[in-house]
Amino acid sequence: MDKILHIKNLTKIYDEGKAALKVLDGVSFDARKGEFIVFVGPSGSGKSTLLNLIALLDTATSGEVIFEGKNILKLKEAQKAKLRLGKFGFVFQFDGLLPEFNVLENVNMPALIKGKNKLKRAGELLKNFGIDALAAKMPPSISGGEKQRAAIARALINEPALLLADEPTGNLDAARKEQIFKDFAALAKTGITILMVTHDMHAAGFADKCYKIEGGKVQPL
Ligand SMILES: Nc1ncnc2c1ncn2[C@@H]1O[C@H](COP(=O)(O)OP(=O)(O)OP(=O)(O)O)[C@@H](O)[C@H]1O
Ligand SMILES: [Mg+2]
Repeated sequence: MDKILHIKNLTKIYDEGKAALKVLDGVSFDARKGEFIVFVGPSGSGKSTLLNLIALLDTATSGEVIFEGKNILKLKEAQKAKLRLGKFGFVFQFDGLLPEFNVLENVNMPALIKGKNKLKRAGELLKNFGIDALAAKMPPSISGGEKQRAAIARALINEPALLLADEPTGNLDAARKEQIFKDFAALAKTGITILMVTHDMHAAGFADKCYKIEGGKVQPL
């Protein structure tokens, strides 16, 4: 009953003329509310593709993404946009911070788009991730790791039910990485379901469940 997400036979084929590339080949798994799930796989194995399909940022060739009991792949664009804003949080492989806005404003941005100003919560999130001193700085003038932490704070501003994180620790040192994995595990305990993809095997130790993604298939690690 508390299965928030049910992925069924998800397949993605990139059709590049004569050579079709099957990146995901019948991927199926479930996620419960409050679960921290890690997918580990090498570069090019389809990790970003998998998250982008679930995030409704790309279209699947076939299969279903059942979120809170509904196949969300079938929703109309406007409903998809509403779902993304209201229920999902994203940490992209590349931070995606807006260079014209300071760090605090970037974290607050999804709240503003949703129609609520949450500067106070944005400030608290910055503090949680140890970057409150950078609130007034512009993204081009902070480090890669600091940008990643700002991007994580931004993903949490609207209190998502599902957090999708694509290699969120790629620019972090070992200690910071471990801190983020621990933060994610703790966040999941508050009821947020987290899907994180990475090539860092070390992440597996912090997850409730871990899958290997290889050859288009997802299998328990
Ligand atoms: N728009 C596209 N058109 C065609 N092929 C694509 C497209 N996007 C991705 N691919 C291919 O699909 C495969 C999976 O890509 P994806 O970005 O999902 O890998 P990844 O596991 O996230 O890799 P990385 O760890 O390097 O980020 C790769 O072979 C890639 O070249
Ligand atoms: Mg990727």
